[in-house]
Amino acid sequence: MHRQTFTTTFLGVLATLTAASWPNPEAIQGTIPGSINSTLDPGLIRRKSDGKLFLYTTPNDLTVFTSSSLYGPWTEEPNTALYNHGDALGPGNHGAPSLHHVDDLYYLFYNGHDGVHESNHDGLIGVATSSTLEPGSWDISAGYLGITWMEKYNILDPTLLPKNESRGQQSHLLGFGSYRNGIFNIPLSDDLLDVPAPNGGNNLAYNSTGRHDIEGSYQFYHNGWYYLFFSSGECCKRSGEADQDASQWHWPENAGNVYKVMVCRSEEPREGFVDREGRSCLDGNGGTLVLGTHGNVWAPGGQGALVDEEVGGVVLYYHYVVADQRDEQDVPYRFGWNKLDFSSGWPAVVSV
Ligand SMILES: *[C@@H]1O[C@H](CO)[C@@H](O)[C@H](O)[C@H]1NC(C)=O
Ligand SMILES: *[C@@H]1O[C@H](CO)[C@@H](O)[C@H](O)[C@H]1NC(C)=O
Ligand SMILES: *[C@@H]1O[C@H](CO)[C@@H](O)[C@H](O)[C@H]1NC(C)=O
Repeated sequence: MHRQTFTTTFLGVLATLTAASWPNPEAIQGTIPGSINSTLDPGLIRRKSDGKLFLYTTPNDLTVFTSSSLYGPWTEEPNTALYNHGDALGPGNHGAPSLHHVDDLYYLFYNGHDGVHESNHDGLIGVATSSTLEPGSWDISAGYLGITWMEKYNILDPTLLPKNESRGQQSHLLGFGSYRNGIFNIPLSDDLLDVPAPNGGNNLAYNSTGRHDIEGSYQFYHNGWYYLFFSSGECCKRSGEADQDASQWHWPENAGNVYKVMVCRSEEPREGFVDREGRSCLDGNGGTLVLGTHGNVWAPGGQGALVDEEVGGVVLYYHYVVADQRDEQDVPYRFGWNKLDFSSGWPAVVSV
C-alpha cells in the first residue's frame, strides 16, 4: 500500500514535470523559415516605420525573411544582405547577424573571418548601417571593428547592448565570444562604428569544463537586470574528425552536449553575472537552463530576445533542428520562437 502510494505519487510528480516542460515553438503559418534554407544564428527586428519584421540568418551571406507577423507567413527575400559585400573574404564568409535600432538608424553586426589565424580562432566582427533594414540597403563602409586578437577569445557572435545613460550605462557594449574563455564585452564608440580603445574587454561567462563550448551570447536589459543569454554545447552536426567530409559529420555521442539556451544575470552590464542558484557564471560554471532539447526540438540555440507588442512582452527567438531530421546530410536549422515570462526575475519559456 505504502509502496503503491509512493509509486502513484512518484508518477504523478513525473507527469507534472513532463506537463511543465517547454512548450513547442509557436506555430508558424506557411513555410517555416529554415525548412529549406537554414536559419542558423537568427537575428530578428521589427521596423519602426511599418511594423514589418526582418529575420536575418547566416546562410549565403545573410539570407533574409520578412513578415508582418511573428506567426508568419514569412517570405524569403530575393537578395541576401551581404552577398556583394566586396571584401577580400568573398561570398559565404559572413554570418551570425545581430540587428539593433539606435537613434533612428539600424545597425547590423555580423561575423567575418580574418583568413590569417586557424579556422576556429579567426573571427572578425563587422558593422553596417541602414535606415530601412532592406537587404540591399546596408552601408558596409565601416568594415570590421578593431578588436585586438587574443588567445583567450574568438571574435565571433556579436551582440549589442545600446548605451542608456538614464540607467547608468555610459557606453554601447558589444558582446562576443565563442569557446575558449567564453563570453566578453567591450565598449564601442558613440557612433557604434569603432572600438575606441582596443583591448581584451571584460570576461562575463566561462565554462571551464569539457570543450569550453559556450558562445552565441545575447545581452538584454529588463526590469533592472542585465541578462546574458548564451548557447552552451555543440551547435551542429559537424563534430566528426574529418571536418572537410560532410558525410562523416555527426552529433556528439551524448545528446546532453548539443546546443541549449542558458542565462545569467547581473545588476551591472560588465561583471557580476550569476545563475539562479547564485553560482558565478565567470568562475563557478554557472548558467541556468532556459531551453533545451525536448520533443521534436533538437539543439535549440543561436538565440536572441525581442520586446514585441504582438505578444505583449519578450520573445525568445532561436534556431533548432527538427529531431527526426537531425541525421540528414544537410540538416535544416529552423527558426522558432516562444514568449518569455520574467515574473520570477528569471526568464521562463511559456505559451503565448
Ligand atoms: C534556398 O534553397 C534553395 C533550394 O536549395 C536554393 O535554390 C536557393 O538558392 C536558396 N536561397 C538562398 C537565398 O540561398
Ligand atoms: C533607458 O532606460 C530607461 C530605464 O530602464 C528606460 O525607461 C528608457 O526607455 C531607456 N531608453 C532607451 C532609449 O532605451
Ligand atoms: C559546461 O560544460 C559542461 C560540459 O560540457 C556541460 O555539461 C554544462 O552544461 C556546461 N555549463 C554551462 C553553464 O554552459
